[in-house]
Formats: sequence, structure tokens, C-alpha cells
Amino acid sequence: MTAHSTTVLVVGATGSIGRLVVEEAIRYGYATRALVRDPAKARSLPPEADVVVGDVTRPETPSRAVDGVSAVVFTLGSDGAGKVGAESVDYGGVRNVLNALTSRTARIALMTSIGVTNRTGTYNRTTEAHDWKRRSERLVRASGLPYTIVRPGWFDYNGPDEHRLVLLQGDKRQAGDASDGVIARRQIAEVLVHSLGSDQALRKTFELVATTGPAPANLDALFAPLEKDADGALDGVYDAGNMPLDEEPQRVRDDLDAVVARGPS
Ligand SMILES: NC(=O)c1ccc[n+]([C@@H]2O[C@H](COP(=O)([O-])OP(=O)(O)OC[C@H]3O[C@@H](n4cnc5c(N)ncnc54)[C@H](OP(=O)(O)O)[C@@H]3O)[C@@H](O)[C@H]2O)c1
Repeated sequence: MTAHSTTVLVVGATGSIGRLVVEEAIRYGYATRALVRDPAKARSLPPEADVVVGDVTRPETPSRAVDGVSAVVFTLGSDGAGKVGAESVDYGGVRNVLNALTSRTARIALMTSIGVTNRTGTYNRTTEAHDWKRRSERLVRASGLPYTIVRPGWFDYNGPDEHRLVLLQGDKRQAGDASDGVIARRQIAEVLVHSLGSDQALRKTFELVATTGPAPANLDALFAPLEKDADGALDGVYDAGNMPLDEEPQRVRDDLDAVVARGPS
């Protein structure tokens, strides 16, 4: 993807990560569209951003937002809205935007979370946020679209000297606190935006944390050794097989069928 011919849609553009994604995408030279719910919040976005006002849970918003885009970065969050928010925003927002693409191709970068495959911890039992974010990952994999899925550690819990990026697979760190890994928000945004143009990041799912040391000069060199997700697999490579499809809610299985049928041209 060349920057000048690419319009990137940022879904979650007024969030703590999304607004940095908007800045990074502009810095990379992408035409950048910001989906925002509240026009007042858009005022603090860079003037180069093309602002589209809407709510991903409303049917008319996604189709307006995806018009002419060739890449989408998802940084949605429904924190505080419990199970309903997790399903309707973190999952439903991704589903609605993917479906709005109809048969078009777009490069996808999806942010979820470290620990997303942990189903039994208190956080997931209370909010189902992990389960719904993981289901959004599954939709992206099933869509047939080119993608990268980034599962960051704890935002901005890093010390001032912790910028050496470490990319992990299999989601084995599940303490549910910052001991799982820390990462600067700015670096999450950079990784998401960089992945859009990276062959080395294609069809890869990884946890993203930082440790002591300088920021890497070459993100592609970090992406390159990672394993791709297996062809046709719903989960990330090395993920625990603890979400059997035949135990999933019927509506989730229907959504998967619909996203497969959507099929990129
Ligand atoms: N904090 C951590 O350490 C950590 C670590 C890993 C993963 N995460 C996860 O990362 C996610 C995002 O984090 P964040 O800090 O960027 O969240 P945030 O600041 O709350 O941003 C969420 C974004 O989603 C947008 N949004 C919510 N509902 C929407 C809807 N119906 N239609 C359109 N946009 C909608 C929000 O819009 P408004 O501005 O209008 O509300 C906002 O732009 C969270 O789900 C969190 O669980 C967090």
C-alpha cells in the first residue's frame, strides 16, 4: 500500500489510542478519516483529519464511514459499559464496519488486548470484554481481508526507559495486571499504523509489550519472525483452544457465516 493512494479510517478516533493513530497515520502520509461520535471531541484532532460523525452501532454510520477507504484501524473501547457495551461496540462495531465494506478489500489493523483469551478471570467474568474482543478478532480472520491483530499490554505503565518492543504469541501472560507487560500508547499507535503497509505483519496476531531499551528502528524486522495465523483458523496461532465454535452463541456463528460470505473481491 502506498501512502498517497490510501485512505485510512480510524474507528475509535477520539480514544486515548485512536487519537494517536490519527496523528501517526497523517505522519505516515495517509489520507486519514476519523470516525467520531461527538463532533466537539473532534476539535482536538489534527486539522488534516477528515472527520465523519457517527456511532458504529447505528446502521447508517459504517457504510458512510468506509466509503473509499483502503485500510481500517480499530481502536474501539466500551470500558465501563459492561457486557452490553462489549458486545455492541467492541464486537458489534467491528462486525458492522466489516460488513459495510461489502465485497471490497481493505487492510485491517485491529487492537484488542493482552490476555484476550483469558475467559475465567474476574474481569472477563464481569464484563465479557475479553470474549467479545476475541470474537472481533475471529471476524477479522474469517473475513478473508488482509490484517494484523495487535494485543497491547498495559497502556503507559512503562518507565521512561522502556521502549524496546517485544512481540509475543499465544497470549500466555494472563495475570491481569501490569506484570503481563507494559507499553507506551504512542508505540501502540505506531505499530498499528506501520502494520498497514507491512508484508511482514500480514495475517499475524501478537501481544505487544515493551521492556528496557530504546525504541526499534525497524518494525518490519520485529514482525518478520512471527508466525502467521493458520489458514482458516479462527484463533491466533498458539492461542488456547478454549472457545469452541460449537459452544458459541448462534448469533455469533451467524455473524461469522455472514462475514465469510461477504468475501473480498
Ligand atoms: N488501558 C489499558 O492498559 C489497556 C490495555 C490493553 C487493551 N485495552 C483496551 O483498549 C481499548 C481502547 O482503549 P482506549 O484507552 O483508546 O479507549 P478509549 O479512550 O475509551 O477510546 C475508545 C474509543 O471508542 C469510541 N467508541 C466507543 N463507542 C463507540 C460507538 N458506539 N461508536 C463509535 N465510536 C465509539 C470512543 O468514542 P468517544 O470518545 O465518543 O467515547 C473512543 O473514541 C479499551 O477497550 C481497553 O479495554 C486497554
